[in-house]
Amino acid sequence: MNEIIRIENLTHTYGEGTPFRRSAVEDMSLDIYRGEFLGLIGHTGSGKSTLIQHFNGLLKPTAGRVLLDGQDIWAEPKKIRAVRFRVGLVFQYPEYQLFEETVYRDIAFGPTNMGLSGEELDRRVHDAARFAGLDEGLLQKSPFALSGGQKRRVAIAGVIAMEPEVLVLDEPSAGLDPRGREELLSNIRAYHAERGNTVVLVSHSMDEIAQNADRIVVLSDGHVLMSGAPREVFARADELVAAGLDVPQVTRVAMALRAKGLPIDPAVYTVAELKAALLALRRGGAVC
Ligand SMILES: Nc1ncnc2c1ncn2[C@@H]1O[C@H](COP(=O)(O)OP(=O)(O)O)[C@@H](O)[C@H]1O
Ligand SMILES: [Mg+2]
Repeated sequence: MNEIIRIENLTHTYGEGTPFRRSAVEDMSLDIYRGEFLGLIGHTGSGKSTLIQHFNGLLKPTAGRVLLDGQDIWAEPKKIRAVRFRVGLVFQYPEYQLFEETVYRDIAFGPTNMGLSGEELDRRVHDAARFAGLDEGLLQKSPFALSGGQKRRVAIAGVIAMEPEVLVLDEPSAGLDPRGREELLSNIRAYHAERGNTVVLVSHSMDEIAQNADRIVVLSDGHVLMSGAPREVFARADELVAAGLDVPQVTRVAMALRAKGLPIDPAVYTVAELKAALLALRRGGAVC
C-alpha cells in the first residue's frame, strides 16, 4: 500500500518520572495513505491530539517511530523543520495564534518562513484564502477585526498556504454553529477534491466524520479500537456505543429499527441507504 505516514509502535508518555505519568498513546501502529481523507475519532482524552502532533514532529515519541515517505522523521533531528512544511497541522482553536497586522500577512507567515516571496507567495496566499472560504476583500483587514469563524479560516489558510502534502486539522469545527461547520467542512472537502492531498480530520462528531471521510480510525484510551471504511466501522455500532462513542444519526435510527425486529443491514449509515432499505422492506411486506 502507498502510505505517506506510517506510525510504528508509537508510545507517548507525559510526565515521565513524576506521579502524573500517563501514556496518552500506547504501542500504536497506523498507516495514512497518500491522497486519502482520513477521519480520526475518539472521545476526549483518547489521545487524538497527542497522536497527530507526532505526524509533524511537534511531539517526539517516547518509543516507536514515525515514518514520512518511508523515512524516520527523527533520523536527523535538524531536518525536522522540513517535516513541518510537509505535514501541516491546524491546532484546536487556532484563531488564538493570529498575530500579524493583516490577514494577508498572517496567511503569508508560513510560506515566508519556507523562503518563498514575490509572485509565488502571492499566488499561495490567494489560493489558500479561496480554499479556506475567505473573501479577497478581507485580506487587507486586521485579523482581529474578523468574526471567530473567519479568524479560524485565516488560521487554516495559513497552513494550506504552505501547500503541505498532508493537512491535519484538529477539531476544526469545534465551537462553530451548524451552518459555520457545514461551510467549513465543504471548503475542506473541496480542497481535498481539487488538490488530491492527504487530509486527516480529527473530530468527536460521528456525523461529521461519516459525511466526509473515506476511512475512519477510532481511538479509545490511547489505542486504535477500529479502522476501516465508514461502512465497516458503523456496522460495529454496538461496539462504538459500548466504548462510549457516538454513532451517526442514521445508524442510531437503524439500530432502533433493528431492535424492533426489522432486518435493517447494520452497515446502513446514510439517509439514502436507510430510505432504500425501508423501501425494500416495504416491497417485501415487512413494513406497511
Ligand atoms: N501536555 C500534557 N501533559 C500531560 N498530560 C496530557 C497533556 N496533553 C494531554 N494529556 C493527557 O493525555 C491524554 C490524551 O489527551 P489528548 O491527546 O489531548 O486527547 P484528545 O485529543 O483525544 O482529547 C489525556 O489523558 C490528557 O489528559
Ligand atoms: Mg484533542
